Amino acid sequence: MKFSSRVRHIDISGIRKAFEAAGSDAINLGLGQPDFDTPEHINETAIKAIKDGFTGYTENQGILELREAVSEKFRRENRINTTPEQIIVTAGASEALHLALQATIEPGDEVLIPDPGFVSYNALTQIAEGIPVSLPLSKDHTITPDGMAEEITPHTRALIINSPANPTGAVQTEKEIRGICELAEDHDLTIISDEVYEHIIYEGRHVSPAEYTENVITINATSKTYAMTGWRIGYTTGPTEAIEEMVKIHQYAQACATSISQKAALAALTGPQDCIKEMHHEFKTRRRILMNALQEIEIECTQPKGAFYAFPKIRNAEEVVQQLLQRGVITTPGTAFGKHGSGHIRLSYATTQENIQRAMSIMREILA
Ligand SMILES: Cc1ncc(COP(=O)(O)O)c(C=O)c1O
Repeated sequence: MKFSSRVRHIDISGIRKAFEAAGSDAINLGLGQPDFDTPEHINETAIKAIKDGFTGYTENQGILELREAVSEKFRRENRINTTPEQIIVTAGASEALHLALQATIEPGDEVLIPDPGFVSYNALTQIAEGIPVSLPLSKDHTITPDGMAEEITPHTRALIINSPANPTGAVQTEKEIRGICELAEDHDLTIISDEVYEHIIYEGRHVSPAEYTENVITINATSKTYAMTGWRIGYTTGPTEAIEEMVKIHQYAQACATSISQKAALAALTGPQDCIKEMHHEFKTRRRILMNALQEIEIECTQPKGAFYAFPKIRNAEEVVQQLLQRGVITTPGTAFGKHGSGHIRLSYATTQENIQRAMSIMREILA
């Protein structure tokens, strides 16, 4: 069998490699998902959907009730003026990212991606036959309009923003977002805004670029907000023409998002929101425990303002990741997120306080 060059040179995610190498009793600081159960009312809604026989295909873009709830959410929380016709419900934010890049990128177009940034940006850009261009980040790991301006060429077509960010926990300020939007308008760039960590924010306020400019494809998901990673529900909005192009790919590659999960997502978006606050509270406590421990062992780390990751500076990061793995602690080397991630490791605090403490005392021994 022969395989396309589009995929042959794509590397397997560095995060997955670390998982596969670890034993089952390892302390996992490599997780990219909340370690909480999906709230019960969401589970119950899905069970009811199955019992009611809601198990067939749905409209390609997603059931109308859910698209109404999503557009209402975008209007209420993000000041994005959108309609149910401009929403696609996808298989997680991952599919929405794929649709956005496939629909907007011509072969050879350059896509500015944060470096370090979420692993899919680089790979999905390459699968769309675009050229990923690393955007080096500021000291506090944000994209700055000045830094972005330096990387724009006549071939630049799009920019991916992710605030709060994986792997750094950085949160873009409103001023930065405005500056980025202005620059994108000046150069006719599409902004792809990945907002999956929107509700996990401890300092500052979440700002959606689509509040300031029209040329934006906004992507979100129930995955992180409601501890629903395995349900595979994401959603996206953008200008009507963009959504029309994206639907063509979604329709043939996916048909629709899972019917049962769509009902569950509707319950998530329209039901009680206490779980968001509870998870936020717990993540904030863990962030404090982790940051205190890092400070005690004199490891430099910018305080993450959102998401559930810290991105400390570690000399010989790759070696330390291996030593930690041998002692039963999974972490991810910064280089898994781009070349500018070197000299760092990503620590996810989507695990118990006790695990964080145990992992930090092992780290202390290794670095002693
Ligand atoms: C920044 C970012 N975007 C998107 C995703 C994928 O989200 P989903 O599980 O909804 O596909 C992740 C998952 O880790 C992520 O960290």
